[in-house]
Amino acid sequence: CGIVGYVGYRDALDVVVDALRRMEYRGYDSAGVAIVDGSGALAVERKAGRLANLEAELDQTGRAAYAGATGMGHTRWATHGAPTDRNAHPHRDVTGKVAVVHNGIIENFAPLRKELEDAGVELNSDTDTEVTVHLVARAYAEGPTAGDFVASALSVLRRLEGAFTLVFAHADHPDRIVAARRSTPLVVGVGQGEMFVASDVTAFIEHTREAVELGQDQVVVITADGYTVTDFDGDADVVTKPFTIDWDLAAAEKGGHEFFMLKEIEEQPAGVADTLIGHYADGQVVLDEQRWSDQELREIDKVFVVACGSSYHAGLLAKYAIEHWTRIPVEVELASEFRYRDPVLDRSTLVVAISQSGETADTLEAVRHAKDQKARVLAICNTNGAQIPREADAVLYTRTGPEIGVASTKAFLAQITANYLVGLALAQARGVKYPDEVAAEFNHLELMPKLVAKVLESAPQVRAIAREFAHQSTVLFLGRHVGYPVALEGALKLKELAYIHAEGFASGELKHGPIALIEEGVPVIVVMPSPKGRAVLHSKLLSNIREVQARGARTIVIAEEGDDTVRPFADHLIEIPAAPTLYQPLLSTVPLQIFAAEVAMQRGYDIDKPRNLAKSVTVE
Ligand code: G6P
Repeated sequence: CGIVGYVGYRDALDVVVDALRRMEYRGYDSAGVAIVDGSGALAVERKAGRLANLEAELDQTGRAAYAGATGMGHTRWATHGAPTDRNAHPHRDVTGKVAVVHNGIIENFAPLRKELEDAGVELNSDTDTEVTVHLVARAYAEGPTAGDFVASALSVLRRLEGAFTLVFAHADHPDRIVAARRSTPLVVGVGQGEMFVASDVTAFIEHTREAVELGQDQVVVITADGYTVTDFDGDADVVTKPFTIDWDLAAAEKGGHEFFMLKEIEEQPAGVADTLIGHYADGQVVLDEQRWSDQELREIDKVFVVACGSSYHAGLLAKYAIEHWTRIPVEVELASEFRYRDPVLDRSTLVVAISQSGETADTLEAVRHAKDQKARVLAICNTNGAQIPREADAVLYTRTGPEIGVASTKAFLAQITANYLVGLALAQARGVKYPDEVAAEFNHLELMPKLVAKVLESAPQVRAIAREFAHQSTVLFLGRHVGYPVALEGALKLKELAYIHAEGFASGELKHGPIALIEEGVPVIVVMPSPKGRAVLHSKLLSNIREVQARGARTIVIAEEGDDTVRPFADHLIEIPAAPTLYQPLLSTVPLQIFAAEVAMQRGYDIDKPRNLAKSVTVE
């Protein structure tokens, strides 16, 4: 979910709705606003569906009904309770004076709900969130915190379990907003005569670049002139991290593209190049943060990579590089599975957690489990100061700028790049690679942005092929070695964007089952290895293409330039520049992204906001 709070001098409704528009990628099941005016009135509007539905509703009522310079908003990815109007945030208490928006999960909502129901409070939604607003209203009405909005909010926060960012407004206190966080994100935007709180900085980058990152279990009270941060006990002796946002509004806008995703696909050469900047100096790979000694790094004897979604596919590629370069065994695991099966971890285990957002709850919990077991954790992350890098022992940031399209593209390529840097860092720490070998690999990486740009030139051809296949119901992807994770990623892109049944297979497995799916006309996309780099695999894949073609499949083959051996078996051939095997995925993934985007657009879908998904999933 995306949440925002504002206190200042502007029309809060405009600020909040603009912020929601920028954060809509965080969830788009429903949206809502609450505006407090100076006379003690609280106006709330909320609507199921996209933000546009809410805006239509606001226009219908007349925006004048939501006047005020203090407000909050929410764009929801539903967890508890269906995405309906009544479950949309903000929620209000029975007097209609207190409002709340929430991201995360209140794990102990059931006993709290019972306590309220026993006290005769009627709840109006199926959410876990609503209990918090009634509890704050009741703490404000009577008892030791009566009449004190901030103290009332603190007293409730201390009772909550789970992961949450909560923002409260009170009609009797129009000069302030109270916001708190535990495990889900919250940043403060510091303006001149106006203050913001939000899930991420895109919400207020238009107004200020000065921001403060809140720590775990911290509460901030913003007024137009300033902010104060405390812990949940109200103790102001806490550490926060002020920072200046180093990218501008343009990076968070579409820049002439119809969709963010299309812009982000084009930004991939820059994303790879920027991820390399500052990560190699004097013959050494340099991490961004490193809270361990080289000696500890030398002692690593096993690596786990944990991640979700596209980040997991990037993780699969890490295995090829790290094992090859370091001879350390690497296991790659879905973060959501990792901690539930009692993995064997100890001090000499390195857990590499890959997360674009740095917020994904599954990955965060995997990190916590690893730390509990004394393993070292290295985070690869695209969002400065997010929870996962905060909890890790070392961090390597991918530097692709904000990724807004829900389906990951530029972050994926940057993650592969970062993985390889981690592999080289490990190899160098263990002394298994000479500095000149590390330098040679780094040089290969430095050549990649140019080659990725070259692949992008083939976009019109890929789109034309995609149009031909736009109305298929099944598409299969085959790859081998590093082409296998690419096949998985290609299939994921197609299913999440175009809602087509798409599956990626290791082509060697074809004969063990998947070939039964092949029938007349089924499209099969094949990611070929280089004929030079992996000649044996190349000939095996050629046989696989023949096998599927013989059974009626239509083949789209991604192959290295000049690889004429594949031509007879390719109904469509997409050529990519030659690159050493490990680096090929940075090239072969790109046509698959373009293919999926085009198919989805042909089918009339919003590729930035695929149905049922959200960019960062802060619940397990
Ligand atoms: C969500 C997104 C995916 C993303 C995954 C992991 O499911 O829809 O595109 O790959 O989360 O996100 P992370 O931020 O941890 O990389």
